[in-house]
Amino acid sequence: METTATSALPVPLHPGLPMLGNTLAFLRNPLGTLHTLQRQHDRLVHLRIGGRHQYLVLRPEDVKYVIQENHRNYGRSPAFEILKIFLGNGLLTSDGDFWRRQRRLAQPAFHRQRLAALTMTMIAETASWIDELEQHRNKQSINMSQAFMDVTMRIVCKTLFSSDTTGKLDGLSNALDTLNYLANKKMLNPLRFPYSWPTPDNIRSKRARAQVDSFIYGVIDQRRHHQEDKDDLLGMLLSAEDEDTGEKMSDQQLRDECVTLFSAGHETTAVSMAWTIYLLSQHPDVLVRLQTESREVLCNEPMPSPDKFRSLTYTLQVVQESLRLYPPAWIMSRRAHNPDHIGPYTIPAGDTALISPYLLHRDPTNWPDPDRFDPDRFVAGGLKDQLHSYAYLPFGGGPRLCIGNQFALMEMQILLGMLARSFDFKSVANQRIIPKPLITLRPSQAIYINLL
Ligand code: HEM
Repeated sequence: METTATSALPVPLHPGLPMLGNTLAFLRNPLGTLHTLQRQHDRLVHLRIGGRHQYLVLRPEDVKYVIQENHRNYGRSPAFEILKIFLGNGLLTSDGDFWRRQRRLAQPAFHRQRLAALTMTMIAETASWIDELEQHRNKQSINMSQAFMDVTMRIVCKTLFSSDTTGKLDGLSNALDTLNYLANKKMLNPLRFPYSWPTPDNIRSKRARAQVDSFIYGVIDQRRHHQEDKDDLLGMLLSAEDEDTGEKMSDQQLRDECVTLFSAGHETTAVSMAWTIYLLSQHPDVLVRLQTESREVLCNEPMPSPDKFRSLTYTLQVVQESLRLYPPAWIMSRRAHNPDHIGPYTIPAGDTALISPYLLHRDPTNWPDPDRFDPDRFVAGGLKDQLHSYAYLPFGGGPRLCIGNQFALMEMQILLGMLARSFDFKSVANQRIIPKPLITLRPSQAIYINLL
């Protein structure tokens, strides 16, 4: 950035406890602590969490510098080592040249034309899910958090492995869910036993892993040996070839990428949908506009075409505003390979830069009345378009931008559009929902809704 090493200053240290630094504050109330830091500091603040030095980056232009302009200096932080136990060395956890090659190989699977084929699967799955929801109309409230977990799981399984696996998907979904749950638990537990120890959780997770592996390797084997060509994500990964070497992915790499796409792609979307439905149940005026749009555009067609969903502009604004208030990836971290300078400050080598989309999205200097739910912030040419591009980053940015961002936005537009076309939803009285920052930013309790 603009300074030289001679003018470099240490980043202002936020006061904390002897030895523990800011660890307890972060464990007890991560979001409240982030807000305090934003109020008290201007650009960067030095924290000591879990015995490590971490630097919270507060300004969008500095975030852009870390994750885009000087991204080569910043790798995966140690937190990703735990995820590796579950996900292997896939796109989310890998780094350096290996990551670059995998990203090049996987990227075409998410191109616009490919997405159109996957969109048809999303629409079909959503249509049958909506039919199942009919039985809850005018009945007892339904746990929408769980309902969204189920449907996003079905969508990701079908788009990855096609429908030839029907009947086997339930076992796979449960095993993947168990892995996801145990990864969350391990990440958040400061008392971690090594994976080789036979603790009940380790035994459970090894069993689930073996189940997932046997399923995925079975499908890969079937495809390779029977020369089956399928128009799903696995099919695209199987045929992807390195431009320079002509090499394809090994079975192990395919396995790791499949588990990664599943894990990165399903919980995030389900959690965002649960937040969105909650926000709508609290804002009837927004719900009415949303319903009007979906009924006008989608009419009564049982399976509207993908183009119809692209015309749901207000629906997209609702999704974007929900992702602003409750970004599932509420915090991201990067480890500096070499010392770096941000403005007048130094980031030492080996330390971690922290970036919080949650905080950036609620910065009152950029977002007036930041806690208010107002989808009109995202109208074309409106507030969002006038802000720094890194003031809003639910999908991250730079070369490690979420590979599934268009997939996720389309999926959410389809789910929300078809749901709003069919139902009215009312929240159950006295549900006090607050954000709970686990690996993803979840609602503090399951969201129950009456479908009318
Ligand atoms: C609302 C839904 C989603 C949100 C909010 C989200 C958010 C993110 C964010 C913030 C990152 C960057 C993390 C970092 O830089 O440290 C990321 C990476 C990633 N996401 Fe998503 N994601 C979503 C849905 C999906 C879907 C549907 C898929 C796949 C089908 C997916 C696959 C991935 C993968 C593979 C990466 C790693 C990319 C890389 O490092 O090359 N995500 N996601």
